[in-house]
Amino acid sequence: MSRAIIAGTGSALPDRVLTNRDLERMVETSDEWITSRTGINTRRISGAGEGTSRLAAAAGRKALAMAGVDPGELDMIVVGTITPDMTMPSCACLVQKELKAVRAFAFDLNAACSGFLYALDLADKYIRSDPSLKILVIGAETLSSRVDWQDRNTCVLFGDGAGACLVTGGAGERGYLAGKLMADGSLWELLHLEAAPGHNRDLRPNHDSSPSIRMQGREVFRHAVRAMEDAVTRVLNATGVKAESLRLVIPHQANIRIIKSLAEHLGLPPEKVYVNVDKYGNTSAATIPIALDEANRAGLLAPDDLVMFCAFGGGFTWGASLLKW
Ligand code: COA
Repeated sequence: MSRAIIAGTGSALPDRVLTNRDLERMVETSDEWITSRTGINTRRISGAGEGTSRLAAAAGRKALAMAGVDPGELDMIVVGTITPDMTMPSCACLVQKELKAVRAFAFDLNAACSGFLYALDLADKYIRSDPSLKILVIGAETLSSRVDWQDRNTCVLFGDGAGACLVTGGAGERGYLAGKLMADGSLWELLHLEAAPGHNRDLRPNHDSSPSIRMQGREVFRHAVRAMEDAVTRVLNATGVKAESLRLVIPHQANIRIIKSLAEHLGLPPEKVYVNVDKYGNTSAATIPIALDEANRAGLLAPDDLVMFCAFGGGFTWGASLLKW
């Protein structure tokens, strides 16, 4: 049976770096508070020409180059994002245009911070029906455009960026071994971002004219820790893989305390759990593919290594997936 393999990775980040010291001048916060509560030191903020689709296309181009695949060979582009440039067309269609991937069909997927994980799982299902497919799976966000820069509860946490994988069919035992995706819409209010207001005032009587991310941080934290631990455990149990056999866990990068709790739960040493939340903050659907690209380019992954991804985000959505590299 053929399963999805990742033949190339890429990432793209805006040039501008926003430090905790910069934030001290914007809201009532401190470098000490942000670092100790979140592990975040800096994040990247988009400027002109660095919209979600541009970052997504730049990351995609690098993944294609690494895999030696021409954009014209692509069959499908899927972008996990909650911050597309436009509601219509999708970010994925703009990426298709930018890359001149003329044969590819393209669409976005909204699963918040779990968007890349959902998209990768979907790509695997397409590959299992046709292993010759070449699919670009991207996680891309410009959350800086949807954050309330006066709300210290949220504005210190998020950043912009994109990561991409070129996915195709592999031979033998390598590739996507298993995934477990979950959702619980009943908890939506704990972490949400309203849609842009429409013209039908009966449908949205109390709408905010410029909605921003709203979050009850402590509650989200509690759920995130439990949910990611549970998802990883389910995937390990389903595959019979022991945690100590994992070469690398790449968790969603939201908060260093969530990541450390996961590592402790799995009994894994710090060097087996990838962390870059200090540099980029929470880039939602982009955190895992950016981290994967960094780890890959740093030579941290060798053929047949077992790699676990896990994520948690608004919805709530969450899950985990296991790959043999
Ligand atoms: N600077 C200084 N103080 C801040 C602050 C900031 N940027 N943000 C919040 N505070 C204050 C709060 O107002 C609160 O003050 P109070 O006790 O007087 O009410 C205090 O710090 C503690 O807040 P609390 O929410 O208990 O802190 P915490 O330890 O839970 O950390 C988060 C807050 C947001 C960092 C943490 O809850 C978190 O990471 N949650 C999950 C976020 C997340 O992952 N979201 C995305 C999921 S994909």
